[in-house]
Amino acid sequence: MLRLFPDLSEDLLLRLYHKGAHVHWTSEDIDWDAPVALDERGSLALARVLSPVYLGEQSAMLGAANVLPQLAMAGESTAQLYLTTFLGDEARHFEVLTRLYQRLGHQPVSIRALPAMLRYHHRLRQGDRVDWVWGILISDLFAKHFYQLFAHSQENLLFGTMSQRILVDESRHQAFCDHYLTKVMPHLGQERRKALRSMRDELLSTMEDMQAVLGEDAEVLGFSGQDMVDLVALDVRVHAQRIGLDQEPPPTDGVPGSFGKPVDLAERRRLKAEEDTNRPQQMGPAQDCDCSLCPIAALCSSLVVRRAAAR
Ligand SMILES: [Fe+2]
Ligand SMILES: [Fe+2]
Repeated sequence: MLRLFPDLSEDLLLRLYHKGAHVHWTSEDIDWDAPVALDERGSLALARVLSPVYLGEQSAMLGAANVLPQLAMAGESTAQLYLTTFLGDEARHFEVLTRLYQRLGHQPVSIRALPAMLRYHHRLRQGDRVDWVWGILISDLFAKHFYQLFAHSQENLLFGTMSQRILVDESRHQAFCDHYLTKVMPHLGQERRKALRSMRDELLSTMEDMQAVLGEDAEVLGFSGQDMVDLVALDVRVHAQRIGLDQEPPPTDGVPGSFGKPVDLAERRRLKAEEDTNRPQQMGPAQDCDCSLCPIAALCSSLVVRRAAAR
């Protein structure tokens, strides 16, 4: 795995590494005196809708640490260098969002209230470095649309300015994923590419399940979670085309032909709505909860319950 004199020829990943290394910042660069301008319900709503993104920042940081040795084993030295800055980016996003939660005075939604969140991150952890980069691209596109909402609507407020900073980092992540996947795509077999398309559909569907639970909170903050997922799905389609995933064979192998039908979120939504109307009412909306005060927290985090939630 260790190479005494690895190939570090100039490429886009090396340039992204240089960019990332030059723009490091931490929570100490954030103006924490900036106003949040949200009432109690608004603060709770932000804490709730932010939960999947917050877990995503942590998951991306840990996933990158896991993938780093795989890149080294494959001799992908510039990708390996780049990923060290990616790790630092996600670490600071995780850190600043943790401090934001303290400022809001609320905790993220628990896994019990939003099991789709765990299902999503469990799916991201499966497979090898190619699966991971593809999953991270999809997650980064979700994060991009989420942060953009606040970067515009809360331009001079605490979360808006924080979102603007995070978006700059996320744009490097997308450039990395696009570049890496475009290079690797012609070398993947048809079944492998089909599996990546299934993964995309699975992640988008799970994303929609999360937004369905958080819909009321999104409305409090003035946006529609479903509209956001639709935008993400469109963006994912654009990137899938760009990297050659939706073409069979991939572009460098000849004339591309259209292949596969991406998940139809609108149709899925219609079927779910039908199911919901036929199902008897069970319980009210999930509440913000504090696991440290909950008597069944140990049971909730047990392997058996986590496996059931992941199904
Ligand atoms: Fe991030
Ligand atoms: Fe990211």
